[in-house]
Amino acid sequence: MRPITVNTLAQRKQAGEPIACLTAYDAAFAGLLDRCGVEVILVGDSLGMVVQGHATTLPVTLEDMVYHVANVARGSENALIMADIPFLGDVDPATALVQSGALLRAGAHMVKVECGAMEVPVVERLVAAGIPVCAHLGLTPQAVHRLGGHRVQGRDPKAAAELESLAAQLENAGAQALLLEGIPESLADVIVRSAGVPVIGIGASPRCDGQVLVLTDVIGLTPEPPRFARDFLVEGGSLEGAVRGYCDAVRARAFPESGVHTFS
Ligand code: KIV
Ligand code: NA
Repeated sequence: MRPITVNTLAQRKQAGEPIACLTAYDAAFAGLLDRCGVEVILVGDSLGMVVQGHATTLPVTLEDMVYHVANVARGSENALIMADIPFLGDVDPATALVQSGALLRAGAHMVKVECGAMEVPVVERLVAAGIPVCAHLGLTPQAVHRLGGHRVQGRDPKAAAELESLAAQLENAGAQALLLEGIPESLADVIVRSAGVPVIGIGASPRCDGQVLVLTDVIGLTPEPPRFARDFLVEGGSLEGAVRGYCDAVRARAFPESGVHTFS
């Protein structure tokens, strides 16, 4: 298998072949995901919850991110490694650039930025510096306190129109992928139809060009998993079976299921 690049992701979108993405935070799980053919390994700041036991992603530092990205990079060969810019790392374009540099030097191939309107110039600056960016919009967990919890976004017409416009602005700013989290399926479909770049979903829509879940939600390690997740270990019987089952379900568009793992 050849290494996955941003070109591979674009080709898969064009060919209508869904992209399988999961999170990992260490070499052992990165190796498992890589062997199973997961295209994108996300070193998410969800490590604040999964690895560190915090209630939110806010305590995660750049140093934490760099440590976990380096571990994942040593454990995987072919997957594209996407790394989150941590809370306030995107407070301005210059800071985001320095933080992205540290993540790429540690082995990431793409950074993910939680985006509102303020982040459009941040994405522009990173792209101008040659850094591939995935723009994360909708439910952005770093804004958990402003949002009043991990709540579905874009439910009223005004908020939906704003997200639709933001997605277009981020793509114009040069984002090479979008990630939609926690928005109504109908809104996700509108964004997917107009996007020219791959759109990865979580709690979004089966029609996204790819899907992502937090690894622990897929292998039965989360006590109260979110409703948009599915435990693949139950059917898969082993860690490898679970990861392969997830990839197969994503590629067959059998996961997520409309109305079961999505919001109306
Ligand atoms: O940190 C993370 O794992 C994420 C995904 C939930 C998209 O950002
Ligand atoms: Na994240």
